[in-house]
Amino acid sequence: MDAKELLVGRRSVRKYKADAVSEEVLREVVELASFAPSWKNTQISRYIAVTGELKDKVSATLMEHNQNIVNGAPILIIQTDVEKRSGFERDGSFSTKKEDRWQNYDAGIAGLQFCLAAYEKGLGTVIMGIFDEDEVASIVDIPEGQKIMALIALGYPDEEPQAPKRKSVDDLLTIK
Ligand SMILES: Cc1cc2nc3c(=O)[nH]c(=O)nc-3n(C[C@H](O)[C@H](O)[C@H](O)COP(=O)(O)O)c2cc1C
Repeated sequence: MDAKELLVGRRSVRKYKADAVSEEVLREVVELASFAPSWKNTQISRYIAVTGELKDKVSATLMEHNQNIVNGAPILIIQTDVEKRSGFERDGSFSTKKEDRWQNYDAGIAGLQFCLAAYEKGLGTVIMGIFDEDEVASIVDIPEGQKIMALIALGYPDEEPQAPKRKSVDDLLTIK
């Protein structure tokens, strides 16, 4: 797969085959995701892979649309971030006026890299932002000092969605 196909071909997949994803493949995806850039190379993203009954319990807390996705996916990734690293000085003060928003920026970059890596391995993903993080954290043990950032469904795709319409380059780019 060339880089253009990787960037253009990745889609949010919401229907999955029942086929299991091996631990070996999952580890390869996480290794590729680890090459994402991050604030001072802090690498704050972590990935908790949830399957079986635990996944069912998390799924039960979601709104119906996301519940259907997660029920059909063999793996649910809970993407967490190690707190107070991106955008912070060593003494705990903020480095910039954006304060702790670099945490979210880094997590977003890492999440996309995870999805692109999965796509390169023939897997589908969809990032989900609509969930109650307190409810999810009451079910899945989140390590001290980490916060849940996003949920990512993962599995072999059972659909080939069309790309939703993109804005034009003229809408996106300003040259001054
Ligand atoms: C931060 C974020 C949150 C999202 N939350 C959801 C969600 O809760 N449920 C869902 O089905 N898709 C969700 N999506 C997927 C978007 O709808 C999808 O990326 C967008 O429509 C573009 O489609 P594409 O990913 O196939 O290019 C989310 C995507 C992002 C980046």
